[in-house]
Amino acid sequence: MKRIGVLTSGGDAPGMNAAIRAVVRTGLSRGWEVMGIRNGYAGLYNDIIFPMGARDVSGIIQQGGTVLGSSRCPEFKTQEGRQKALHVLEEHAIEALVVIGGNGSQTGAYELSQMGFPAVGVASTIDNDLYGSEITIGVDTALDVALVAIDQLKVTASSHHRAFIVEVMGRDCGYLALMTGIAGGAEYIVIPEFETDAEEVVNAIRKAYERGKAHALIVVAEGAKYNARGLDQYFVKHHEDTGFDLRITTLGHVQRGGTPGAFDRLLATRLGAAATEYLAQGKSGVLAGLNKNRITATPLAKVVATKKPLDLDLLKLSEVLNL
Ligand code: ADP
Ligand code: F6P
Repeated sequence: MKRIGVLTSGGDAPGMNAAIRAVVRTGLSRGWEVMGIRNGYAGLYNDIIFPMGARDVSGIIQQGGTVLGSSRCPEFKTQEGRQKALHVLEEHAIEALVVIGGNGSQTGAYELSQMGFPAVGVASTIDNDLYGSEITIGVDTALDVALVAIDQLKVTASSHHRAFIVEVMGRDCGYLALMTGIAGGAEYIVIPEFETDAEEVVNAIRKAYERGKAHALIVVAEGAKYNARGLDQYFVKHHEDTGFDLRITTLGHVQRGGTPGAFDRLLATRLGAAATEYLAQGKSGVLAGLNKNRITATPLAKVVATKKPLDLDLLKLSEVLNL
């Protein structure tokens, strides 16, 4: 192997830069050239590729986002788009690729590997919805960002005896909402994986009021049927039943832009280095992830075909603890 490529794709995640740095320096230390690809698969499709040296990744380990840029690239979802990307890889004499990203991005890496091009993945998404890594790059920092907001909202909520609905990210997965809710002491948590009735939420808020709580906090996942918008429509008619005055806050992309903490920097560094070593070992079509505190290689075929389970017992735990 002489030359590899690296890209970051899909939603950016705090720690992606640490993963890029690890890939570049592990590759260089093996005597390979490492090519950076801009803006995910769009950079492959549009041929925006450049060599990266050790100094190009200096001072980025502590930065959020991704210095390579990221994007959603619909062209890459088509066979023609991927053929064009393969052609660009060939033109640059890139022999293998490291894809840092979430579910969709790893599906793209899997497709490339199925076309005979060596590609490995690095598990990176704040949603933590990627099978093959118990925790993915960016989750820990995103949770910390959400908790800073929650703690501050609880201060003003208590002063005004209000209930707050706080919507956190998570396209199809309630992991962020569940963990934010438990660590933030929520009175109620709404996630896509568990069917919730809006009336149940109203009842939970009223009961919290009757128990003498100074505020009530409801954490909802954006992907849940009763997310902030869904609950807002219901509460317009029913909020007087709750006892509390109600406000809604949507955290949105704020959670993606945090400064990576120690956990994410270390995870990203280990996964980026491992993915590069997998290429050296001749592996392709695998995801570098963390399982039972060890770095593992899970076949991308399994990763893209399997839904990551969410521990719903934690939902029950949150009910017990919000007494
Ligand atoms: P994430 O990787 O964070 O889940 P997306 O689902 O938006 O983000 O996927 C990122 C990119 O990965 C897409 O814009 C597309 O270029 C590529 N991708 C997603 N799904 C596929 C697919 N089924 N086949 C090939 N490429 C895909
Ligand atoms: O996949 C990560 C994520 O942040 C999801 O939680 C969210 O639904 C989505 O990306 C938002 O995507 P965009 O940045 O394209 O608005």
